[in-house]
Amino acid sequence: MKIIISESREEFNGTAADIVRRQIHDKPDSVLGLATGSTPLGLYNLLVCMGIKGDLDFSRIKTFNLDEYKGLSRDHPQSYYHYMYENLFSKINIRDENVNILNGEKADSYRECAEYEKRIKASGGIDLQVLGIGHNGHIGFNEPGTPFDSITDLIDLTDRTIEANSRFFDSPHQVPRQALSMGIKTIMQARNIILLITGGAKARIAAKALRGSITPDVPASVLQLHPFVTVILDKESAAYL
Ligand code: PGA
Repeated sequence: MKIIISESREEFNGTAADIVRRQIHDKPDSVLGLATGSTPLGLYNLLVCMGIKGDLDFSRIKTFNLDEYKGLSRDHPQSYYHYMYENLFSKINIRDENVNILNGEKADSYRECAEYEKRIKASGGIDLQVLGIGHNGHIGFNEPGTPFDSITDLIDLTDRTIEANSRFFDSPHQVPRQALSMGIKTIMQARNIILLITGGAKARIAAKALRGSITPDVPASVLQLHPFVTVILDKESAAYL
């Protein structure tokens, strides 16, 4: 596990963007796994800039998003579909047919999840997975206690996650109680992973995940077992490392 502590927000975003840029440069038809949340916004911004300048061509990449809320329509402002188009896909030359996001509106979520797994495999697997981490150590929406061999599935969100995500909704009651998420095994099958962590509020969980014991109680701790993980932190989130 390679750990990079950034001195500034610019350095943090630049380090992450450079890894994604190199991946696409080395393999123009790369399969990327993408995350939502506030942490990767700066990365996506830089990728958009690289695309506008003509430094990066997204026309052959494929993407698979980590997760999506159950029951939100794709045009709901808090759906991850909406987030991805708003912050990245509508601003780069990716082809719509190469974008894969779990559909939270499908009546049969289990079937949607099983088909998603098949689509990832059919694409040749994920070359580079971008991850954030929740305050409780979740990756994707794999909450504490999720077995390490889990695959893409319908997940019950914990109160902690609902509370954390309520900042994007008018009230906690509006936050969906369930989500579809890639499993921990699905994430671990990616060839390379970057884990992005910012802010003092994540300092304790960062230390537990990166230095603590490897346990389903801290889902991100599983990443210690992956051979090609780069963790990028700011100084605040690295305080207890
Ligand atoms: P955040 O979310 O980037 O908004 O902190 C991360 C996560 O919950 O995985």
